[in-house]
Amino acid sequence: VVADANWADEVRRLARARDAVLLAHNYQIPEIQEIADHTGDSLALSRIAAASDASTIVFCGVHFMAETAKILAPDKTVLIPDARAGCSLADSITGAQLREWKAEHPGAVVVSYVNTTAEVKAETDICCTSSNAVDVVASIPADREVLFCPDQFLGAHVKRETGRENLHIWAGECHVHAGINGPELAERAAADPDADLFIHPECGCATSALYLAGEGAVPAEKVRILSTGAMVDAARDTKARSVLVATEVGMLHQLRKAAPEIDFRAVNDRASCRYMKMITPAALLRALRDGVDEVHVAPDVAARARASVRRMIEIGR
Ligand code: 13P
Ligand code: SF4
Repeated sequence: VVADANWADEVRRLARARDAVLLAHNYQIPEIQEIADHTGDSLALSRIAAASDASTIVFCGVHFMAETAKILAPDKTVLIPDARAGCSLADSITGAQLREWKAEHPGAVVVSYVNTTAEVKAETDICCTSSNAVDVVASIPADREVLFCPDQFLGAHVKRETGRENLHIWAGECHVHAGINGPELAERAAADPDADLFIHPECGCATSALYLAGEGAVPAEKVRILSTGAMVDAARDTKARSVLVATEVGMLHQLRKAAPEIDFRAVNDRASCRYMKMITPAALLRALRDGVDEVHVAPDVAARARASVRRMIEIGR
């Protein structure tokens, strides 16, 4: 299947016939981002899913995102074009592991990144995304212990920003972002000293970037730790002529659209998420034609997860 004008017409026709809204994450291939009704980060897409009037949501992203949409909109049909689109970060903690961790810290408030399964969300007090993780943790009274899972790099970022000592961090990671490392970033930054650095907090290099700034190797104001949605806003605001981008490479499409005059370059151009890329033009067509793959969340799990996801969409930008 080629993503040509005929494909686009057919996708739109089928979406109308199904009363479906098409949502795409910023890491999708450009053709999918362009055909979607809304493209954005995890938080923005969750809010749109919760507020949409459409009877079907087609989530072009990974499985936990579609599950989150189903938790927020249980009466809607939620489709993901390929249910095998998982997430290595979401796989780094199970519901049973979280239950054990909670038992070791009775009374602690559990904050889980949205990149988790519905079962983990059901064991969680407040979910967060990279856009609002700091605000979510800051909303918790300072004397309460916090368990933050599953991303260790986002956890370290939140701990730095909130200065909270009673925040315990699970040692999970995303294989794509963990692979964007400090030495690579330092080398790219040294070769382009005027560039801004846009760094996703899931990156292994986020701490190194702040270290570089601390050492004076990079001006501190050029180092920006941002969610994918905040990167698009920052692209519109910056005066820089070039920007080094540390996140999944699909992000470059929205950045280049937002600021065509800026030279956006990936810190690691092999940082591609194979799960995000499972949502192909053929898979989207199949989803709309055949009504597959439908996402189900057991009603009791969804009911327990809903409160934590609702808190997430209420907090932050
Ligand atoms: P955001 O879009 O929330 O920044 O998340 C990035 C991500 O890794 C999603 O898989
Ligand atoms: Fe998960 Fe990482 Fe892929 Fe995002 S980029 S979906 S965190 S594996």
